[in-house]
Amino acid sequence: MATEVKVSPESVAKTAQKNERIPEPGVVVIFGASGDLTKRKLLPALYHLEEAGLLPEQFGIVGVARRDLGESFAQDMKKGILEFGGVQKGEENVDKFVSKVSYHAMNFDDEAGYAALKDLLAKHDQEHGTKGNRLFYLAVAPEYFSDIVEHLGKHDMVHPKEGQVRVIIEKPFGHDLESAKELNAEVSKVFDENQIFRIDHYLGKETVQNLLVFRFANEIFEPLWNRNYIDNVQITAAESIGIEGRGPFYEKAGATRDILQNHLMEVLSFVCMEPPISFEADAVRTEKLKVWEAIKPIEIDNTVRGQYGPGKVDGKDAIGYRQEDRVDPNSNTETFAALKLEIENWRWAGVPFYIRAGKRLAKRVTEITIQFRQPPMRLFDRAGSGHCPEIQPNLISIRIQPDEGISLRFGAKYPSPDMTVCPVNMDFSYARAFGKSSANGYERLLLDAMLGDGTLFAHRAGVEATWALFTPLLEKWAGIKQADFPNYASGDWGPKAAEELLERDGRKWNKL
Ligand code: BG6
Repeated sequence: MATEVKVSPESVAKTAQKNERIPEPGVVVIFGASGDLTKRKLLPALYHLEEAGLLPEQFGIVGVARRDLGESFAQDMKKGILEFGGVQKGEENVDKFVSKVSYHAMNFDDEAGYAALKDLLAKHDQEHGTKGNRLFYLAVAPEYFSDIVEHLGKHDMVHPKEGQVRVIIEKPFGHDLESAKELNAEVSKVFDENQIFRIDHYLGKETVQNLLVFRFANEIFEPLWNRNYIDNVQITAAESIGIEGRGPFYEKAGATRDILQNHLMEVLSFVCMEPPISFEADAVRTEKLKVWEAIKPIEIDNTVRGQYGPGKVDGKDAIGYRQEDRVDPNSNTETFAALKLEIENWRWAGVPFYIRAGKRLAKRVTEITIQFRQPPMRLFDRAGSGHCPEIQPNLISIRIQPDEGISLRFGAKYPSPDMTVCPVNMDFSYARAFGKSSANGYERLLLDAMLGDGTLFAHRAGVEATWALFTPLLEKWAGIKQADFPNYASGDWGPKAAEELLERDGRKWNKL
């Protein structure tokens, strides 16, 4: 029986103190603070850090948005923390934390607003000893990124005499290669690269980080992790939710820009990269970049687009995408995409990578499946007969969410007088081994950004490499009206063509 390790906030804090992972005093300034992200993810994440003893004593949060919210902002944040924060220490602790939250209303192009913000932050430094350290978080629609960055520069808030200033930029980082390059150029006019943190919240997920630990802290898997033993790799990000009222955003994005170009490319790079020489930002980024640069241009025949129609999800009726609020009734936007990718390097040549993401699928599950080759010959004739299904190849399934864990499928002898082989699983569950974690991925990334550690953030070259891969495909797709949309019912696993993409290679999606 494996030893159970329970993770308490105190034990996290002790480890962090030992590793000197507590940031300098400072203020987190959130632009777009009235949005959902702040209430559901950012404030609960900052609160977790506080409960775990990972925030400095001299700390503040300033919410910036256009609406005049005043005092009600802090109260709304308190509600968010209580609802989404997995609070362990009780409401008084939340009140104490919320007393560090203030609000500043301004338009993002308003010169006087920036001047007032600068004064507010200077006052904060004097009263609370935050020493000029600031982390600006741009949780705004992408059209405001450049404006805000330019104004921060113009108002001399980026390279202060005292303190460290950093900026976190939310996705989407650009709409295609050209716009990503433009945005990179604009942000780089004001901030140095080591001040810029392009966030992809998948990199904050424990299970995604664990990919590196699984591969590089264990001796038994890595020797098999290549084209000699692996038949194919599948990566699925399935969501049962629809677009959740984000019609205008999603119409422009679609599943490819929303999930594949960023979240799934990050996951893919961790699955495929060579061991970095250290766990420093530059070393990790260099290896990730090599993976993206080795992906062969995507052929349109290796792609499938889908759009959900009406159906049933979790036993409830669900409307189709074209019936969603503020969506074009003839929309050509894909809510599902599946691709076959090939990586032309020594380790992976010849191994297909099948990746797919979609909304309103049968269930919410993000998983990586590594399917191994079959043994060179079939020794056991009775395999698959009687009590057991057909003989199955070995699989390593890495469950990113929910029910986070890893399982290894192998064949075992079914107890009987003959040699019948049955597939069985060896399972590791995060919850069973370490206890439940309420972390949402943002805490690790916020902490790293406050510490100036960019290892788990996207780099300029990486963002451009993934856009370079997807832009030609997106341009081709844009020119072809998908006549069969909607082509899957809500609650299915996507269009039939996604099954065929693997069937024509003699393969199947692993059942999730
Ligand atoms: C966001 C996308 O980046 O990720 C959303 O914009 C998606 O459309 C979300 O629902 C998924 O995140 P998670 O952590 O729930 O897998």
